[in-house]
Amino acid sequence: MKPSLDIADLKEMARRRVPRMFFDYADSGAWTESTYRANEEDFAKIKFRQRVLVDMTDRSLESTMIGEKVSMPVALAPTGLTGMQHADGEMLAAQAAEEFGVPFTLSTMSICSIEDVASVTKKPFWFQLYVMRDKDFVLNLIDRAKAAKCSALMLTLDLQILGQRHKDIRNGLSAPPKLTAANLANMAMRLPWCLNMLRTKRRSFGNIVGHAKGVGDLSSLSSWTAEQFDPRLSWKDVEWIKERWGGKLILKGILDPEDARLAAETGADAIIVSNHGGRQLDGAPSTITVLPEIVDAVGDRIEVHFDGGIRSGQDVLKALCLGAKGTYIGRPFLYGLGAGGKKGVRLALDIIRKELDVTLALCGKRLIADAGPDLLYKGRG
Ligand code: GLV
Repeated sequence: MKPSLDIADLKEMARRRVPRMFFDYADSGAWTESTYRANEEDFAKIKFRQRVLVDMTDRSLESTMIGEKVSMPVALAPTGLTGMQHADGEMLAAQAAEEFGVPFTLSTMSICSIEDVASVTKKPFWFQLYVMRDKDFVLNLIDRAKAAKCSALMLTLDLQILGQRHKDIRNGLSAPPKLTAANLANMAMRLPWCLNMLRTKRRSFGNIVGHAKGVGDLSSLSSWTAEQFDPRLSWKDVEWIKERWGGKLILKGILDPEDARLAAETGADAIIVSNHGGRQLDGAPSTITVLPEIVDAVGDRIEVHFDGGIRSGQDVLKALCLGAKGTYIGRPFLYGLGAGGKKGVRLALDIIRKELDVTLALCGKRLIADAGPDLLYKGRG
């Protein structure tokens, strides 16, 4: 792997190594992508207070998320089709996260299955659940996550129907890709990706194939979601899911204080302030904008986690200062994976750790637990 100094370097490397339809799948938001862009842009508006001549020895980023020890409060987010960024991508990313000491979350829409990931890891990972119309399939998925000793279930709340991402339609996104002339030409320029993909048998949705009955066209994410995802999902459903699962539960996709209050009443262990990386409701506010009001509404009752727009350790620190107890990265680790497999994911985590550590120190703090609003610059008025 060529040296990469930041996540933007990894992104450019991934762009050259991953077939366009999968790179674009990660690098896209719904419709005009305004919320996708706002997630990143609004971070840039927040500034730190620089402090000097503070003893910076013995620094630590260690923390906990839902009671689990983490080497830094940055988990890998559930991302669909991860095994298309690189062959066996979910297994490699889970191993990188395990070695690094941060949680890995496997998506329902993954290429490698729950059992695949369990077979190559020793520590428990987290499993993200989408609720399908086929209730037996959902119950079975929950049981499979339990059998694989997953230590948390993450229920996604904001994708009963899929927000339209223009690039996916233009590219004819499917897993595996259809062998059209355009796709073949694009893949021919990315030989290492193809060779790795030929060596694995995992090229479609591993959690679904062979487990769900009557599934139509699995290759098209949008038609499959429209056919299979349950649009009636409501707050009442959280109860039976929580009961069937019986372990730690994280609710992902909260963007409004009113929903945060409803989520806190369910008895879940954490919520994730998330707009699905700007991939669902285009025109919704950035997550970093709404984080403070959600922390105000429920921060004393439920652990508040955060995702959306994090591209550096500085962004992680800003989210922690505004009250998040833990954060997630999606695209940054996917870019690392596309750029260099497991090593690339490790590098993405290393880059973020180093940035987080140095930024905290230059703000005059040694411990990540000391991150708070006092580290942020509010003007001298
Ligand atoms: C699935 O979760 C997606 O955002 O594509």
